[in-house]
Amino acid sequence: MEEKQIVISFQEYKDISEMPQEDQELCTAAIEAMSKAYAPYSHFHVGAAVRLIDGKIVKGSNQENAAYPSGLCAERTAMFSAGASYPDIPMVSIAVVGGEGGVIARSPATPCGACRQVMAQYQTRGGHDMSVILIGADVILKFKKVDDILPLIFDSI
Ligand code: THU
Repeated sequence: MEEKQIVISFQEYKDISEMPQEDQELCTAAIEAMSKAYAPYSHFHVGAAVRLIDGKIVKGSNQENAAYPSGLCAERTAMFSAGASYPDIPMVSIAVVGGEGGVIARSPATPCGACRQVMAQYQTRGGHDMSVILIGADVILKFKKVDDILPLIFDSI
Protein backbone atom coordinates (compact mmCIF):
# COMPACT_ATOMS: atom_id res chain seq x y z
CA MET A 1 0.00 0.00 0.00
CA GLU A 2 1.14 3.51 -0.78
CA GLU A 3 -0.29 6.71 0.66
CA LYS A 4 -1.01 9.13 -2.20
CA GLN A 5 -2.20 12.72 -2.40
CA ILE A 6 -4.17 14.76 -4.86
CA VAL A 7 -2.86 18.32 -5.00
CA ILE A 8 -5.10 21.04 -6.40
CA SER A 9 -3.75 24.47 -7.23
CA PHE A 10 -5.89 27.49 -7.98
CA GLN A 11 -5.62 31.23 -8.25
CA GLU A 12 -7.04 33.58 -5.66
CA TYR A 13 -7.98 37.17 -6.50
CA LYS A 14 -9.12 39.84 -4.07
CA ASP A 15 -11.11 41.68 -6.68
CA ILE A 16 -12.50 41.12 -10.17
CA SER A 17 -10.43 44.07 -11.41
CA GLU A 18 -7.22 42.02 -10.79
CA MET A 19 -8.33 39.39 -13.30
CA PRO A 20 -7.55 39.18 -17.03
CA GLN A 21 -10.03 41.19 -19.12
CA GLU A 22 -11.83 38.09 -20.45
CA ASP A 23 -12.44 36.81 -16.93
CA GLN A 24 -13.66 40.20 -15.75
CA GLU A 25 -16.17 40.17 -18.59
CA LEU A 26 -17.34 36.66 -17.66
CA CYS A 27 -17.69 37.58 -13.98
CA THR A 28 -19.74 40.64 -14.89
CA ALA A 29 -22.01 38.44 -17.00
CA ALA A 30 -22.47 35.99 -14.10
CA ILE A 31 -23.36 38.85 -11.75
CA GLU A 32 -25.86 40.18 -14.29
CA ALA A 33 -27.37 36.70 -14.61
CA MET A 34 -27.73 36.46 -10.82
CA SER A 35 -30.22 39.34 -10.93
CA LYS A 36 -32.48 37.16 -13.09
CA ALA A 37 -32.61 34.22 -10.65
CA TYR A 38 -36.04 32.85 -9.79
CA ALA A 39 -35.63 31.63 -6.23
CA PRO A 40 -38.91 32.14 -4.35
CA TYR A 41 -38.26 29.12 -2.09
CA SER A 42 -34.58 29.26 -1.12
CA HIS A 43 -34.13 33.01 -1.69
CA PHE A 44 -30.59 32.05 -2.72
CA HIS A 45 -29.87 33.72 -6.04
CA VAL A 46 -27.21 32.23 -8.30
CA GLY A 47 -25.86 33.44 -11.63
CA ALA A 48 -23.57 31.64 -14.05
CA ALA A 49 -21.92 32.60 -17.32
CA VAL A 50 -20.25 30.25 -19.78
CA ARG A 51 -17.63 31.41 -22.28
CA LEU A 52 -17.46 29.54 -25.57
CA ILE A 53 -14.21 29.17 -27.48
CA ASP A 54 -15.36 31.73 -30.04
CA GLY A 55 -15.91 34.32 -27.28
CA LYS A 56 -19.69 34.06 -27.00
CA ILE A 57 -21.04 34.25 -23.45
CA VAL A 58 -24.16 32.33 -22.42
CA LYS A 59 -25.81 33.17 -19.10
CA GLY A 60 -28.03 31.26 -16.71
CA SER A 61 -29.57 31.66 -13.28
CA ASN A 62 -31.22 29.26 -10.87
CA GLN A 63 -34.85 28.56 -11.65
CA GLU A 64 -36.89 27.07 -8.82
CA ASN A 65 -40.23 25.31 -8.88
CA ALA A 66 -42.88 24.41 -6.30
CA ALA A 67 -42.15 20.76 -7.13
CA TYR A 68 -38.58 21.23 -5.80
CA PRO A 69 -36.59 18.74 -7.90
CA SER A 70 -38.02 20.33 -11.04
CA GLY A 71 -35.90 23.44 -10.50
CA LEU A 72 -32.40 23.83 -11.90
CA CYS A 73 -29.12 25.36 -10.74
CA ALA A 74 -27.68 28.39 -12.50
CA GLU A 75 -24.66 26.48 -13.80
CA ARG A 76 -26.69 23.79 -15.52
CA THR A 77 -29.19 26.36 -16.85
CA ALA A 78 -26.25 28.17 -18.50
CA MET A 79 -24.46 25.04 -19.75
CA PHE A 80 -27.61 23.37 -21.10
CA SER A 81 -28.55 26.61 -22.85
CA ALA A 82 -25.06 26.78 -24.41
CA GLY A 83 -25.16 23.08 -25.31
CA ALA A 84 -28.60 23.44 -26.86
CA SER A 85 -27.84 26.59 -28.84
CA TYR A 86 -24.21 25.99 -29.83
CA PRO A 87 -23.67 22.21 -29.68
CA ASP A 88 -20.41 22.25 -31.63
CA ILE A 89 -18.66 25.12 -29.87
CA PRO A 90 -16.52 24.08 -26.87
CA MET A 91 -17.13 25.75 -23.50
CA VAL A 92 -13.84 27.10 -22.16
CA SER A 93 -14.81 28.82 -18.92
CA ILE A 94 -17.66 29.16 -16.44
CA ALA A 95 -18.11 31.81 -13.74
CA VAL A 96 -20.50 31.36 -10.82
CA VAL A 97 -21.80 33.77 -8.20
CA GLY A 98 -24.49 33.48 -5.56
CA GLY A 99 -25.94 34.93 -2.42
CA GLU A 100 -28.91 35.19 -0.12
CA GLY A 101 -31.56 37.58 -1.42
CA GLY A 102 -29.39 38.48 -4.41
CA VAL A 103 -26.54 39.96 -2.35
CA ILE A 104 -23.18 38.41 -3.34
CA ALA A 105 -21.98 36.16 -0.51
CA ARG A 106 -18.59 36.95 1.03
CA SER A 107 -17.26 33.45 0.30
CA PRO A 108 -17.57 32.09 -3.23
CA ALA A 109 -20.61 30.02 -4.18
CA THR A 110 -19.43 26.49 -4.89
CA PRO A 111 -21.19 24.33 -7.50
CA CYS A 112 -23.14 21.28 -6.39
CA GLY A 113 -21.96 17.79 -7.37
CA ALA A 114 -24.46 17.43 -10.21
CA CYS A 115 -23.28 20.70 -11.80
CA ARG A 116 -19.63 19.61 -11.48
CA GLN A 117 -20.42 16.36 -13.27
CA VAL A 118 -22.18 18.26 -16.08
CA MET A 119 -19.20 20.63 -16.36
CA ALA A 120 -16.91 17.59 -16.59
CA GLN A 121 -18.85 16.09 -19.45
CA TYR A 122 -19.03 19.30 -21.47
CA GLN A 123 -15.30 19.71 -20.91
CA THR A 124 -14.72 16.22 -22.35
CA ARG A 125 -17.18 16.82 -25.17
CA GLY A 126 -15.51 20.10 -26.13
CA GLY A 127 -12.01 18.61 -25.91
CA HIS A 128 -10.79 21.77 -24.18
CA ASP A 129 -10.12 22.59 -20.52
CA MET A 130 -12.98 24.52 -18.94
CA SER A 131 -11.79 26.92 -16.25
CA VAL A 132 -14.07 27.50 -13.28
CA ILE A 133 -14.31 30.89 -11.60
CA LEU A 134 -16.06 31.07 -8.25
CA ILE A 135 -16.96 34.60 -7.23
CA GLY A 136 -17.34 35.83 -3.67
CA ALA A 137 -17.48 39.42 -2.44
CA ASP A 138 -14.23 38.97 -0.49
CA VAL A 139 -12.37 36.56 -2.73
CA ILE A 140 -12.53 35.06 -6.22
CA LEU A 141 -11.12 31.62 -6.99
CA LYS A 142 -10.07 30.43 -10.42
CA PHE A 143 -9.46 26.76 -11.21
CA LYS A 144 -7.82 25.92 -14.54
CA LYS A 145 -10.03 22.94 -15.31
CA VAL A 146 -13.06 21.05 -14.01
CA ASP A 147 -10.82 18.22 -12.73
CA ASP A 148 -9.62 20.65 -10.07
CA ILE A 149 -13.07 20.85 -8.48
CA LEU A 150 -14.04 17.26 -9.32
CA PRO A 151 -11.06 14.95 -8.83
CA LEU A 152 -11.45 11.38 -10.12
CA ILE A 153 -14.13 12.43 -12.62
CA PHE A 154 -16.46 9.67 -13.77
CA ASP A 155 -16.10 9.42 -17.54
CA SER A 156 -16.03 5.69 -18.10
CA ILE A 157 -19.03 5.22 -20.43
N1 THU B 1 -27.92 26.49 -6.63
C1 THU B 1 -27.33 26.83 -7.81
O1 THU B 1 -27.96 27.45 -8.68
N2 THU B 1 -26.06 26.46 -8.00
C2 THU B 1 -25.30 25.79 -7.10
O2 THU B 1 -24.18 25.44 -7.40
C3 THU B 1 -25.83 25.46 -5.79
C4 THU B 1 -27.26 25.76 -5.58
C5 THU B 1 -29.31 26.89 -6.42
C6 THU B 1 -30.28 25.76 -6.36
C7 THU B 1 -31.40 26.37 -5.57
O3 THU B 1 -32.22 27.12 -6.44
C8 THU B 1 -30.68 27.33 -4.64
O4 THU B 1 -29.42 27.57 -5.20
C9 THU B 1 -30.54 26.83 -3.22
O5 THU B 1 -29.96 25.59 -3.18
